[in-house]
Amino acid sequence: MRKPMIAGNWKLHKTLDEACGLVSEIIPAVASNQDVEIVVAPVFTALSKVAEILSGSNIKLAAQNCYPEPQGAFTGEVSPLFLKDVGCHYVIIGHSERRQIFGETNDFINAKARALADAGLGTIFCIGETLEERESDQMFDVLRHQVRLGLKNLSTEQMSNVVIAYEPIWAIGTGVTASDEQAQEAHAFIRALVKELYNPKVADATRILYGGSVKPGNVDGLMTQPDVDGALVGGASLKAADFARIVNFEKV
Ligand code: PGA
Repeated sequence: MRKPMIAGNWKLHKTLDEACGLVSEIIPAVASNQDVEIVVAPVFTALSKVAEILSGSNIKLAAQNCYPEPQGAFTGEVSPLFLKDVGCHYVIIGHSERRQIFGETNDFINAKARALADAGLGTIFCIGETLEERESDQMFDVLRHQVRLGLKNLSTEQMSNVVIAYEPIWAIGTGVTASDEQAQEAHAFIRALVKELYNPKVADATRILYGGSVKPGNVDGLMTQPDVDGALVGGASLKAADFARIVNFEKV
């Protein structure tokens, strides 16, 4: 049985005070939920303080990015070693904003995936197609390419720390969500791909999250799909009540 995961990606939002306030509101709202793995990913500068507030709660901490080398002359970067040190359980990599705005390649993302595996940190590995790619029937090729290269050289054992997030780029921050059927179709394809690259056991155990305009109003339908194991939530994770409602989803 795959434990559902709901992860809030706060992106570049919430100052230190605001982050502490938000997480203090989320904690009681989700405290009774033991069925879902709950994760929040604040900005780097808030990680340490948020980690303190989360201590003893059922919410885990994630970072939004990392650099693949453990330490050295890499001005401005933060590595898995330092993120683990501050209390992170997970790190998001491969987000479309990093791919598109910062030009991150599949190879670079793979280096991060391997560094996280080496550090024993969980990875939330994002993939997804553009609208243009979907409309020109390239979606499956794009997803295959991203998964193959992004997870290259990760062992079967290391895959147990990897969560895949399918985030169609046309659905991120746009208010347009993939339909339940579109999400299920992509998730089933990704699971089949993991089976092909690894084995049926790994495919069955790997959680695949959906991301892209997930809200209280659409989470229940998405979570009812057999291959949707959770959500990576941007905008709606910035409001405690909305995020809590998503965490406390109900299958329809
Ligand atoms: P959104 O963002 O929920 O605001 O669409 C999702 C994401 O980018 O992870």
